[in-house]
Amino acid sequence: MSFWPNADHWSVKIQLASPHPRLEVLADTGVAMLIDAPFDVPPCEYEALEYMDWKSGGDTNFAPIATADGELDCRGFWDKGKTDKDAEWTSNAQIAPSIKTYVDGVGANFGRVRTIKLEPQDREAAIRSLHRDDNNRFNPDDEGWVVRSWVELTDNPDSYMLLFDNDEDGLPDPATEIRVPLHKGARFVVDTQRLWHVVVHTGDAPRYALITSFESGPALDQFITANTPVPADT
Ligand SMILES: [Fe+2]
Repeated sequence: MSFWPNADHWSVKIQLASPHPRLEVLADTGVAMLIDAPFDVPPCEYEALEYMDWKSGGDTNFAPIATADGELDCRGFWDKGKTDKDAEWTSNAQIAPSIKTYVDGVGANFGRVRTIKLEPQDREAAIRSLHRDDNNRFNPDDEGWVVRSWVELTDNPDSYMLLFDNDEDGLPDPATEIRVPLHKGARFVVDTQRLWHVVVHTGDAPRYALITSFESGPALDQFITANTPVPADT
């Protein structure tokens, strides 16, 4: 029998319902697809960053670009008594100017900004790392719910992010499966505290992506609206 999370999984204890203001655009599925990035991040910007050995969602390394206090640190902001927002740029930001410009340009309050380097893993291996994030620890109830956004830096059209909403027991519901494509430039915003998630990455080279925490609010809402694909005429 393949692995599947049960009631003992640590993610089940992470808060789901709360009074925090949230984005209407994420209410239905928990994910918003954006148009592909209209810019290119040169490989030198993400390959030359200082990566840290930090395992989350598989065999991963992370390069912190903005953190709770500007130090190169992959730990949660809560270790420093802080919500995952109001981040400060690290030394890595100087190596990745197009990433810094992009995140600043969103206009929303951001928390951790980092690139992920994920080694290949098939679906069965990936599901062992299926989890929900604890993005809103210490977040005051009247401030926006923290969600995460991705920009795919390498081209992996056969890989996908696997998303599941919760069943009545707070476990991933297979009937809600969504696969987010991970070609180069793919962008999306996910409520990763709500949705179980992990990446299935085929191929033989690492996948790189930019991951940013953003506070839900008018600025992020406008950014998503401005970058939402226009449906094709039917
Ligand atoms: Fe996560």
